[in-house]
Amino acid sequence: MLDKLKQLEKEALAELNAAETSEALSEWNRRYLGKKGTLTQMLRSVGQLPKEERPVFGQTANQVKVALEQALEARTEAVRQAEMAHELEQGTLDVTLPGRPVGPGRLHITTQTLRQIYAIFAEMGFQVYLAPDVETDELNFEMLNIPAYHPARDMWDTFWIDDQVLLRTHTSPGQIRVMRERYPEPIRVILPGKCYRYEQITARSEHQFYQVEGLAVGHHITMTDLIGTLTEFARRLYGPERRIRIRGSYFPFTEPSIEADMDCILCAGEGCRVCKQSGWLEVAGAGMVHPVVLQNGGYDPAEWSGFAFGLGVERPAMLKYSIDDIRLFYGNDLRFLRQF
Ligand code: FA5
Repeated sequence: MLDKLKQLEKEALAELNAAETSEALSEWNRRYLGKKGTLTQMLRSVGQLPKEERPVFGQTANQVKVALEQALEARTEAVRQAEMAHELEQGTLDVTLPGRPVGPGRLHITTQTLRQIYAIFAEMGFQVYLAPDVETDELNFEMLNIPAYHPARDMWDTFWIDDQVLLRTHTSPGQIRVMRERYPEPIRVILPGKCYRYEQITARSEHQFYQVEGLAVGHHITMTDLIGTLTEFARRLYGPERRIRIRGSYFPFTEPSIEADMDCILCAGEGCRVCKQSGWLEVAGAGMVHPVVLQNGGYDPAEWSGFAFGLGVERPAMLKYSIDDIRLFYGNDLRFLRQF
């Protein structure tokens, strides 16, 4: 066996010295040192030898391996130099060409919008709390008052990892996480992050998008606080002339529930494909935290109350910058991204 090793080393080194190109070196590497290479196979067969021969064989095989690796490194450098010299001789490489300028990078429009949102809510006393993208069925649905048979699940179908684990459909499961962590403190947080849905992609809907969840839990918190917070947010993001419309709505985890629309800047209220011809674009779902959800978070609804909202991020950005198609955000077209 030892003789075989020595013979292999001799042959391999001779072949290596004969290799003239990078391709030949890769092929050599594959043949001797690769996963199915001759030396690797020999090293694996050590277990089949009689016990007393194993240590010497193993040691020698490792020495051969190191020797071959070092020889390959040296040969690779020599071949690289030779290839470069050859290219220079042929004139295929013009070293006098000026390099390609690398432009300054910038933040993606979603990141910029998120940062504006953080800044506005920070001024209102909201902390940022991060919750995971991969969630359990229990937190994404059950604890939010959406049991398995609930029709609301159809609206929030998503990508499933297995029967119980999924990519979150909204940032709302973070509400339960914060409440369980912060009890018995009052809470004022925003929870930003990506959401995923089994969704028809259109000018206003993506299957991956960002939301910023808001949650306030305390004593005597009312619907007025919620509407005031959303209106103030819109005023600070868009300026005092922006109009916000509050409609009654339904979410299983808030009671009562509302939706907030912003007047559509894209069509000046005339109606377009983004606002579904209504002149208004829905930007947030919200409501007073449902007593069952408060309880699931550990807060006694007889003592505590709270409001919650889930803001889109791309849609408010579309309104702010007059973008008429949400698909542009993640299409990676630099002509679009460089405008912000
Ligand atoms: C929700 O996701 C609720 N979790 C919101 C909520 C939170 C209600 C807390 C009550 C309390 P909805 O599915 O409506 O609700 O989404 C909220 C916002 O996310 C929408 O107003 C919209 O701005 C954005 N959004 C929803 N789906 C998409 C999509 N496919 N593409 C882009 N933005 C979307």
